[in-house]
Amino acid sequence: MGEYLKLAVLISGRGSNLQALIGAAATAAFPAEIVRVISNVSGAGGLERAAAAGISTAVVPHRDYPDRESFESSLSEEILGSGAELVVLAGFMRLLTATFVEEWRDRLINIHPSLLPAFKGLHTHERVLEAGVRYTGCTVHYVRPEMDEGPVIVQAAVPVLPGDDADTLAARVLEQEHVIYPLAVRLIAENRVRVKAERALIDDAGLGAPVATINPAP
Ligand code: GAR
Repeated sequence: MGEYLKLAVLISGRGSNLQALIGAAATAAFPAEIVRVISNVSGAGGLERAAAAGISTAVVPHRDYPDRESFESSLSEEILGSGAELVVLAGFMRLLTATFVEEWRDRLINIHPSLLPAFKGLHTHERVLEAGVRYTGCTVHYVRPEMDEGPVIVQAAVPVLPGDDADTLAARVLEQEHVIYPLAVRLIAENRVRVKAERALIDDAGLGAPVATINPAP
């Protein structure tokens, strides 16, 4: 591993989490750098954000491949070619096969807009509102073959407020996504995260336990 941990960021859409990582990586003290942004969608807004930051981009359109295996082997080739050491899923909306996930085991992380293991899958905020829970949030976790499963690295909680709709809630959660994704990457790059018995153990010495936050503090 060099001085900076090399990241490949995989996106499918607007790339606001990518932007948060680009912003973090622009500060000299951040111990990771984005070496390639890869999208499975050619018009993804995040590609422009990457280009504007001078980061190499690639498009691997899943529709061009007859099956998941051939799509993923192109994806892996792009990642390997970039020299990335950690694969960061940032709004990458394709399910990955067990083969791909095992190839990148404990070097593949995802962000999901709920407090996992609650509300896996799509339409998270609508389902949170339907369920009537008082808190929701976001989770950064290592990826496992089952959707939205894997050792939790960092979580942030936000309140569900009276009058919220899916959009206001999504915006409140997204603000915290932009905080915890760079934090999780930093912890990994600083070698502070170990996976043991399917738990992500964090050495947070000196950081004051930032791996779980409630926003705003009660
Ligand atoms: C984010 O809210 C992310 O948590 C979610 O997609 C959005 C991408 O936004 N990911 C998932 O739902 C994955 N299951 P972005 O493109 O602006 O980062």
